[in-house]
Amino acid sequence: MSTENKSIHEFDFNLICEYFSSIERQGPGSPEVTVKALGFIDHLAGDSKIADIGCGTGGQTMVLAEHTTGHITGIDLFPVFIDLFNQNVRRNNFQKRVSGIVGSMENLPFQNEALDLIWSEGAIYNIGFKRGLKEWKQFLKPGGYLAVTEASWFTDERPDEITAFWRDAYPEIDTIPNKIGIMQKTGYIPVASFILPENCWTEHFYDHQTEAQKKFLDKYKGNQTAEELVANQRHEAQLYARYKAFYGYVFYIGKKI
Ligand SMILES: C[S@@+](CC[C@H](N)C(=O)[O-])C[C@H]1O[C@@H](n2cnc3c(N)ncnc32)[C@H](O)[C@@H]1O
Repeated sequence: MSTENKSIHEFDFNLICEYFSSIERQGPGSPEVTVKALGFIDHLAGDSKIADIGCGTGGQTMVLAEHTTGHITGIDLFPVFIDLFNQNVRRNNFQKRVSGIVGSMENLPFQNEALDLIWSEGAIYNIGFKRGLKEWKQFLKPGGYLAVTEASWFTDERPDEITAFWRDAYPEIDTIPNKIGIMQKTGYIPVASFILPENCWTEHFYDHQTEAQKKFLDKYKGNQTAEELVANQRHEAQLYARYKAFYGYVFYIGKKI
């Protein structure tokens, strides 16, 4: 890659981070759903160790912190998100038991069997559901839990346009029974799974972006990258509105055997 291309790439990357930093969460979800998923997990206590992988700026982590008493480490690849995450921690006065660190989900900095709970909302797709489940299991204590959200098909058949979109975006998208099958085969008891309600996509994700998009386009008027980024997000929101009967995010909660 030439230096010129690299700098363009970095500029794009910074723009993407800036765009997603301006919204409370970087993927579909809601406080209610985080609390609901947490309701399936028992044995958590003050000395529990929890990791939130691909935590972003920490929207869901602060909810986790409010409803647990253990120690939480948020991990994300992007320093900009972790800076905001740690600001969020201070604002909520969670410094004693919550911290954000920069790191990759491909190379997690935990000892084997150190964690009671692995949390990951809208992020495991970055290494793939099956690979994430397999590789992260070593860090869980026996009897520890994993709770992740993952894009899933609700039906066996669906319109070509949405199949093509996801084939391109994330070919590992699959039906709920197939995802649960993977969970079982990779050594977890499938404790629960539930579909995230529509408001996790609309009210808590796409609606927040409407205002952010206006400001972003004003600031970067005429910038092709910025315009394409916003156009892509709007396209995704339109596809969701049209095809929400066929796909969505599902919470999968498993217990390590
Ligand atoms: C769709 S966002 C979800 C963020 C947050 N969990 C939420 O629900 O608002 C996916 C997150 O995964 C992070 N990410 C991508 N690749 C990663 C990697 N290899 N290791 C750690 N985090 C990664 C991104 O920076 C981003 O914050």
